[in-house]
Amino acid sequence: MNRPKVVVIGSINMDIVVETGRYPQVGETLLGDKVSFIPGGKGANQAVAASRLGAKTSIIGAVGDDSFGRQMVDSLVHNGVNVSGVKETSQAATGIASIYVSQGDNSIVVVPGANYTLTPGDIDRHERLLAESDIVLIQLEIPVPVVQHAARRAKELGKTVVLNPAPAQPLPDEMFDCIDYFTPNRTELASYSGLGTEADLTEAMLIMKHKGARHVITTLSSEGSAFLNSSGKIQLVPGHSVSVVDTTGAGDCYNAALAVAIAGGARTEEAIRYASLASALAVTKFGAQEGMPTSEEVDSFKRHLGKFV
Ligand code: RIB
Repeated sequence: MNRPKVVVIGSINMDIVVETGRYPQVGETLLGDKVSFIPGGKGANQAVAASRLGAKTSIIGAVGDDSFGRQMVDSLVHNGVNVSGVKETSQAATGIASIYVSQGDNSIVVVPGANYTLTPGDIDRHERLLAESDIVLIQLEIPVPVVQHAARRAKELGKTVVLNPAPAQPLPDEMFDCIDYFTPNRTELASYSGLGTEADLTEAMLIMKHKGARHVITTLSSEGSAFLNSSGKIQLVPGHSVSVVDTTGAGDCYNAALAVAIAGGARTEEAIRYASLASALAVTKFGAQEGMPTSEEVDSFKRHLGKFV
């Protein structure tokens, strides 16, 4: 089988990860345990994951003309990602994410910096990457008009578009026509559907389908994920019980694995099962990009689970 070809359009950040026994209260100063500088950004994480999972992967994004930017590009190259679509700008510093990790969970503040200098023109300049791909994977740490333009161009070129709508941003209704797979988490779904987190999951997902997204898949942390089948009924795909080290980037791994599997010809449910396996492995290691599993690791995990998958 040919290697699936994935183009990721999205953010590239330096993650400044502070490990701490607990989160600080408002106005409180805490002594943390450790700080690490780790390549991150939803776009870059998804590109690294897709590449490690065996896809021929390119990224369209932006970094600043600074040492963080150079480190981020090196990390992408080291992971086999084509960076010809990454622009280096002097208009802003490389994006950063300030991440607190405590007891296996995290909270994040992103400062987009160079990611927000990306323009629709940058997408047009790298249209060849879109044209040569099987699938286009986008998130929302870059300007929404760029996302909208990229999704529209990708559809005009006949490509499958996966939008991981994270972090939640107001999206124009007409954009949903361009989305083949819409993959919010539970909180994002609550915000996009307008129904809140206590609402019925099926009802909230149907709202997104009626807006135009062809497939709606909601990730539910350790509980797994849910999708609407062809009859509009909700189906749950359970997650896997693993010992959690760091959940940062788990959603990125899920989306990349989903895209790789779909581009490789898998049906929706099969692709979701693959994404669940990959993202379970991602949380067993520290760091977003560093924790992304290879396709061999996912296959071996699947064999280990045997008939329970
Ligand atoms: O999804 C995790 C990512 O979100 C981190 O790597 C951080 O950079 C933020 O963008």
